[in-house]
Amino acid sequence: MNTVTHNTQNKKLLMTSLCRFMPLLFCIVSVGCVSATPSPAPVASASIAAPAPEETVTIDGTTYPVPEAWIGRKLNAPPLKTPALVRIPPELTKDQTDIYILREARDALVRMAARAQEDGVSLRVDSGYRSAWYQRKIFINLMKKGRSFEDLVRYVAPPGYSEHMLGTVVDFSPGNWRFAKTPAYTWLREHAGEYAFSETYPENNRHHPWESWHWRYRLPASDRDRIK
Ligand code: DAL
Ligand code: ZN
Repeated sequence: MNTVTHNTQNKKLLMTSLCRFMPLLFCIVSVGCVSATPSPAPVASASIAAPAPEETVTIDGTTYPVPEAWIGRKLNAPPLKTPALVRIPPELTKDQTDIYILREARDALVRMAARAQEDGVSLRVDSGYRSAWYQRKIFINLMKKGRSFEDLVRYVAPPGYSEHMLGTVVDFSPGNWRFAKTPAYTWLREHAGEYAFSETYPENNRHHPWESWHWRYRLPASDRDRIK
């Protein structure tokens, strides 16, 4: 073996050893550095304000942040079914469709609609009970038509947040801004309270666009005897 070859082999051996032990050396040096750094003073975890957990909804595999206006307003409402849910008489619905709400709300609605009719005003329901599944389906269908989540969620509650899950809410027809200009709306403003219905999103409320067509039945136990 000549000197050149021997030197080359020595260098190779040295490099191989360095490569093999470099990570170990690095670890030792690193650990040494860390332990040599003075520890920060312990901070009581209770003094750090926990960040509000982010609320999200998942629609068709994509997760979206819940907008500010809905934060903290997710409803703990188990799915409803018949016989608790009853059908609104078809003649009180738009296009005679199958629309369901809770029995007590339905009975009050029927009494209210009869009284409105006596006053020459027709009330027609466009939407009633909607499960979280159905609310999600609304988004899916409209997003397939090119609408964005951000656009829709200005008017449609995120799945799990809609009052329609309670079974005590109806949308009257037409379910859009035109409803505010109808005699039905004027009549409801004057009389709906007598039947325990109220607007959830009145004009100039602080959180949501005005939804003149969306009315919720609420019956405090103390009021039961007063309701017609
Ligand atoms: N449009 C109302 C906010 C709902 O979707 O419940
Ligand atoms: Zn509604």
